[in-house]
Amino acid sequence: MKQRFLIVGAESLIGSALRDHWRQSGHEVTGTYLEGAEKAPHRLRLDLREPPQHWPSLPDSDATILCSGITNLDACRREPAASQLVNVTRILDLIRCLHGRTGLLLFLSSNLVFDGSRPHRQATDPVCPQTEYGRQKAAVESGLSQQAVLWAIVRLTKVMHSRFALLQQWHASLRARRPIRPFSDFVCAPIPLNLVVNGLARVAERQQTGIWQLSASRDITYADMTRHMATAFHLDDPLIQPVESRFVYQAEHVPLHTTLDPTRAVQELGLMMPTPEETLASVYPGLLSESQSHDAECDRTSDSTH
Ligand SMILES: NC(=O)c1ccc[n+]([C@@H]2O[C@H](COP(=O)([O-])OP(=O)(O)OC[C@H]3O[C@@H](n4cnc5c(N)ncnc54)[C@H](OP(=O)(O)O)[C@@H]3O)[C@@H](O)[C@H]2O)c1
Repeated sequence: MKQRFLIVGAESLIGSALRDHWRQSGHEVTGTYLEGAEKAPHRLRLDLREPPQHWPSLPDSDATILCSGITNLDACRREPAASQLVNVTRILDLIRCLHGRTGLLLFLSSNLVFDGSRPHRQATDPVCPQTEYGRQKAAVESGLSQQAVLWAIVRLTKVMHSRFALLQQWHASLRARRPIRPFSDFVCAPIPLNLVVNGLARVAERQQTGIWQLSASRDITYADMTRHMATAFHLDDPLIQPVESRFVYQAEHVPLHTTLDPTRAVQELGLMMPTPEETLASVYPGLLSESQSHDAECDRTSDSTH
């Protein structure tokens, strides 16, 4: 059955992938955008820095997915007031505005609502964020769960995709035989973008309420990610020179663990959670074709300049 969805932040990594998935499945999707509305008048422009009276009128929907926000941890730390306005105050305003207009309100949250001191955090564990970004996520989780609306919170670990900038930089450097210095003390539990899209689609389409967690089965260090990539692409391992993050920059917090317990999503949504290596392997074909088209583009540019 055709359903209507509203994606707030339809140009975000996750929002755009979900928008394309639902359009291909024949659902009706309206998106809000921060940029580009001038060039495409059918786009609803929504800037969360602005007060609600400046927002466009939003359509009724079966579910609304909240993807917009300041997602860079350093930006949240550097500008806590500005990021709190967008990430907490206005998101809660939006939730109130949508009251009675949407079936389910779905908020995307993060493993950073926890302090990373233990692996495989349960959905029911009390939150204990150690970063500004994590505190903002926890504040919306709390605000949303107190509203008289149908709500779902989907907590995600690191979402991996073939355009992930670090992966592309590492790949390009190793191919050019330049050394790289990945962090040996930073971990993540990477999950593929298509798993996230499937999970969100199932929660929204079935109007499944409560807290959901999507996570890889265990953590991997950034240094081990590069070693895995080097092996997969037959690139030189000695060019990988791991370094402890504290020698490079002052991190706000270095979690020892980032995994979440995904049991509910596995049992009730029928999703399979990957190992970190399975996630990485799933993005390599896309990474390779991105770098091949980049090479072809460079060849074309150098041909035309000679
Ligand atoms: N990606 C992950 O690994 C991950 C993991 C856990 C949770 N999440 C959460 O999932 C959600 C989506 O993540 P994502 O990675 O897809 O995000 P993203 O690609 O970083 O996109 C965030 C979007 O929010 C927009 N935005 C920024 N300021 C805004 C404002 N004032 N008003 C309206 N829109 C604004 C950005 O617009 P511009 O691009 O024009 O600035 C961008 O389109 C976020 O809530 C994120 O915290 C993501």
